[in-house]
Amino acid sequence: MSTTPIKVAVTGAAGNIGYSLLFRIASGALFGQDQPVELRLLEITPALKALEGVVMELDDSAFPTLAGVEIGDDPTKVFDGVNHALLVGARPRGPGMERGDLLEANGGIFAPQGKALNEVAADDIKVTVTGNPANTNALIAQSNAPDIPSSRFSALTRLDHNRAIAQLAAKTGATVADIKKMTIWGNHSATQYPDLFHAEVKGQNAAELVNDQEWLEGTYIPTVAKRGAAIIDARGASSAASAASATIDHARDWQLGTAEGDWTSMSVVSDGSYDVPEGLISSFPVTVKDGEWTIVQGLEIDEFSRGKIDASVKELEGERDTVKKLGLI
Ligand code: NAD
Ligand code: LMR
Repeated sequence: MSTTPIKVAVTGAAGNIGYSLLFRIASGALFGQDQPVELRLLEITPALKALEGVVMELDDSAFPTLAGVEIGDDPTKVFDGVNHALLVGARPRGPGMERGDLLEANGGIFAPQGKALNEVAADDIKVTVTGNPANTNALIAQSNAPDIPSSRFSALTRLDHNRAIAQLAAKTGATVADIKKMTIWGNHSATQYPDLFHAEVKGQNAAELVNDQEWLEGTYIPTVAKRGAAIIDARGASSAASAASATIDHARDWQLGTAEGDWTSMSVVSDGSYDVPEGLISSFPVTVKDGEWTIVQGLEIDEFSRGKIDASVKELEGERDTVKKLGLI
């Protein structure tokens, strides 16, 4: 641990996810109780007043690990020297929308933010995109930051990963801690594929333990993949606290590493593994050591899984082609 604060940028800091995320980061949930953090908070100009109120609450929480807070509406100032950038700020979808419907509204946010990170972020910058459509927004940011290694850009599928674990725990009567090697493949969208064929429950293969293809196809996969919509329907607003929690899990594992004998799901730039076209930002099983992720290799993919992965990857290719046409990459 270092006493030099880690600088963490959060965009959309006055929004719903921000209201949970900032307090978790400031309290030490991201890097531990011995590691000071400095928050750099970006908002659009009309939201700066609300953000000032949130900063007052951060002050009032007297977090020992919070070394400083800066706010602003200029990404080249806010991102100056940042080690982690959590790109949350974007418009959420409403009832009846798919996340891809947000491409036009939100895509434009991520090109200038990628350029600003390229110009001023620290050499060890790690970028996590939570704002939807997260995978393709990450691709836009990465394409606009030619001097930052593409491996430093990622999108959040950890919320899907956590949902997949929770649903499997409920089905099998196991605890979430009993479940290892869960994988989300593909896009953070309704086409994502939560894979039980490599997951383990107390060391036992999850698909074999459940042994119910009808439940897998008819209940499990759609419940996980459509959970975001179910929350919008129930809450009247998209998931916020669980999204913040997953963003913390993702950035913490990226900084501190994944547990021995386990892996996590991260959307990262494909190197062609598992026949996912090179350059797409797609979700894979990854391990992390010393701040670098590696795609888990050598997993056998059967015909059922192949079809599911291919469908989600096809959607990512379509999104990539759309943002290309919009001139964003
Ligand atoms: P919100 O509307 O409550 O907050 C978004 C904030 O972003 C607002 O305060 C807005 O002013 C700000 N913003 C807009 N444009 C900005 C810009 N250019 N720079 C900086 N800030 C900007 O929304 P929310 O509920 O916090 O959700 C944020 C995003 O996260 C949405 O796109 C949502 O769909 C997405 N999300 C993703 C996941 C995931 O698992 N990947 C989960 C939940 C939500
Ligand atoms: C989620 O998965 O909860 C978020 O991506 C929000 C949404 O639009 O579903």
